[in-house]
Amino acid sequence: MKLLEIVGTNADKSYNRELLQYMQHHFQRNATIDLSEIGQLPLFKEQPQDCSLPESVQKLANQISGADGVIIGVPEYDHSIPAALKSMIEWLSCTIHPFAGKPIMIVGTSLGIQGTSRAQDEIRRILNAPGVGATVLPGNEFMLSFAPKAFDQSGDLVDRHTISFLESCFKHFQQLIESQKGHLALNVDWNANYDVVVLGFGGAGASAARFAADKGAKTLIVEAAPFGREGGNTRYSAQHVVMGENLADLTDYYHNLNRPFVTP
Ligand SMILES: Cc1cc2nc3c(=O)[nH]c(=O)nc-3n(C[C@H](O)[C@H](O)[C@H](O)COP(=O)(O)OP(=O)(O)OC[C@H]3O[C@@H](n4cnc5c(N)ncnc54)[C@H](O)[C@@H]3O)c2cc1C
Ligand SMILES: Cc1cc2nc3c(=O)[nH]c(=O)nc-3n(C[C@H](O)[C@H](O)[C@H](O)COP(=O)(O)O)c2cc1C
Repeated sequence: MKLLEIVGTNADKSYNRELLQYMQHHFQRNATIDLSEIGQLPLFKEQPQDCSLPESVQKLANQISGADGVIIGVPEYDHSIPAALKSMIEWLSCTIHPFAGKPIMIVGTSLGIQGTSRAQDEIRRILNAPGVGATVLPGNEFMLSFAPKAFDQSGDLVDRHTISFLESCFKHFQQLIESQKGHLALNVDWNANYDVVVLGFGGAGASAARFAADKGAKTLIVEAAPFGREGGNTRYSAQHVVMGENLADLTDYYHNLNRPFVTP
C-alpha cells in the first residue's frame, strides 16, 4: 500500500511534521509512506482554465494521484487550518481534482489540550466541498495534545495509549482503502450454499441472521456499506451494532455496556 503524508504547514519547525515522521517510521512495515511539504507552493490565485499550473502544484497533484491514500497533518491556527494548507487545497480543487474520491486520514497536534479539534472539524468540511470530494476516514479523530511533551528525544511518541489509539486509527484507514478497492478479505465463500441469506447488517438484518444461525442455519449476511460503516440507521440512531474479529471480546463489551442488566 502506497501512502502520501502532507505536512499541513510551511513552518520550518513543526510538531505536525514530527508526528508524520513518527508515523512514517512506526508504520513502515504496513505501508510505503512518502512525506510531502507544501512550503514551496505559491499562494493560490484563480487563473483561467487553460493556464498551466505551477510546477510544484502539478508535482504534488501527481504524488496524490499516485498514492492509495493521503494522511494530512493539520496544525491549528486561529481555530482553523493554516492559510498555506487552505491555499494548497484551493490549487487542487480548481482546475484539477486529485483529491476526488481519495481516502484521507486526518491527524493533528497542537500546543494546548484540544489537539487541533477545531482545525480538524474545519478540514473535514473543506475536504467535503464539491471541488475536493475526498473520502475522509470517518471518526478516528487523532488529536494529540501538548505537542512539546508528546515526543521523546528521538521523535517517538511517549504515551503508549496514544500509540495504540494511533495504531487503531491507522488500521481503520487501511481498511477503508482496502474496502474501496474491494480487496478486503472477509473469507466469504461465494460458491457455497447457504440456508439463509440476509441482506443488510442493520438491526433487523443482524437480528434475523443471529436467530437463524442460533437455529442451526448456515447464514450469510451481505452488507452494502464499506467495512467500518456497517450498521445502517441502527448504528446512527445510537443502537448497538458492531463488527469485529473476536466474539468473546465483543460479547464482553456488550455485557459491560448493559450492566447491571444481563442480556443473552
Ligand atoms: C437519526 C435517527 C434517529 C433514530 N432514532 C430512533 C430511536 O430513538 N428509536 C427507534 O426506535 N428508532 C429510531 N430510529 C429508527 C431506527 O434507526 C430504524 O428504524 C432502524 O435502525 C431500522 O433498522 P433496519 O435494520 O431496518 O435498517 P438499517 O439499520 O438502516 O439497516 C439497513 C442496512 O442494509 C444495508 N443495505 C441497504 N441496501 C442493501 C443492499 N442492496 N445489499 C446489502 N445491504 C444493503 C444498509 O447499508 C444498512 O446497513 C432513528 C433513525 C434515525 C435515522
Ligand atoms: C497564527 C497562529 C495561530 C494559532 N492558533 C491556535 C489555535 O487556534 N489553537 C491552537 O490549539 N493552537 C494555536 N496556535 C498554536 C499552534 O498549535 C502551534 O504553533 C503548533 O506548534 C502549530 O503546529 P506545528 O508545530 O505543526 O506548526 C497558533 C499558532 C499560530 C502561529
